[in-house]
Amino acid sequence: MASTTATSAATHTVKTHLAQVFAQYPIDVAHGEGVWLTTRDGRKILDFYGGHAVAGLGYGHPRWLAALERQARQMAFQTNALPMAVRERAATRLTKFAGLGLDTVFWINSGAEANENALKLAFKITGRGKAVALEQGWHGRTAAAGAVTWGAAEKWYGFPRMPFDVAFAPRDKPEAVERFIDRDTAAVIVEPVQGVGGAYDVGKPMLEALRRRCDDVGALLIFDEVQCGMARTGAPFGANYYGVTPDLLTAAKALGNGFPVSALLLSKHIADAIKYDDMGTTFGGGPMACAVAEAVIDTIESESLMANVRLVSTYIRSNCVIGPVVGTQGAGFLLGLKTSRPAKEVQAALLAKNILTGTSGDSHILRLLPAYILNEGLVDQLCDALSTIPA
Ligand SMILES: Cc1ncc(COP(=O)(O)O)c(C=O)c1O
Repeated sequence: MASTTATSAATHTVKTHLAQVFAQYPIDVAHGEGVWLTTRDGRKILDFYGGHAVAGLGYGHPRWLAALERQARQMAFQTNALPMAVRERAATRLTKFAGLGLDTVFWINSGAEANENALKLAFKITGRGKAVALEQGWHGRTAAAGAVTWGAAEKWYGFPRMPFDVAFAPRDKPEAVERFIDRDTAAVIVEPVQGVGGAYDVGKPMLEALRRRCDDVGALLIFDEVQCGMARTGAPFGANYYGVTPDLLTAAKALGNGFPVSALLLSKHIADAIKYDDMGTTFGGGPMACAVAEAVIDTIESESLMANVRLVSTYIRSNCVIGPVVGTQGAGFLLGLKTSRPAKEVQAALLAKNILTGTSGDSHILRLLPAYILNEGLVDQLCDALSTIPA
């Protein structure tokens, strides 16, 4: 995740053996249940941050726990060289859930790893040398994913050179995409709703323009749905939400609800072009990860959580423009509250009132990434707290 944007509510220095790379919230969490966190000193905190978009079902969901336990007892791990029913079942389940015709799945472990493989495939298949990404986009910290992440080169990219040419296009100018995407472009990578970029809705016209231009020049379109996918928009993926289908799509975070798992979904023409050994992994597609992904999808569907996201998101948008909040942006439960004061100050004031929220790359956006089980009564608590914070 983006350590630079996770929070700046405060930093506290303790003697530690952990690499000091994350700014940290000044709370010490011990237990989670549903949308509630309990700290070691007994505070109960209402969580609108969801472990940075991971805890889609909330903490300790019984179906998720049962799947973990069942699979751990049956077989906790097995290599991809040995076929397993749970791996096949989870892939079928995920492609049906997506409903996009991206019917082939490659399982890996993290968002960056999924994007790394997506980009690698695009370069391999097209034989071209350039990628296009959007300004303010975030795709991860590995060599290729970092290369297409806006601002990484200036801030933290440690490799001596980029592995390929990259051009960054403005995120709000569909009419400009032709200038950036040409016949040297292997891949265009985009988050349909940007997360770190400030819960920013890239929007249908932009996604359609990217799709059209990719088709015209033979480039492949990759949707990075690591943060905005898996029901967070109130639809299975941003692709469904906007009605634009990419060639490759990556999912992670809420896919495992806390168990590390990510997936790369491929359209038929990509799946047909790959061969043995083009990709590989030890832990990706492990039975625990697959059992959990299956349970997450089961739960989203059987508990009608996408409908809940849509309902409660609308409620937040209608009621939370109060106190220092002057507007909203984003989609579903990837929401940005626009603040009149620096979002960090609002975040700190909310945490003092036992409500946890996130910030983003935009200094005036407070980011909400709550669990899909959130209800209107809990949103009222956020509104009440906001109403007491000076604008
Ligand atoms: C849109 C997006 N892509 C990729 C990543 C990287 O995922 P991971 O930290 O699992 O490698 C993130 C992480 O925050 C993200 O938000």
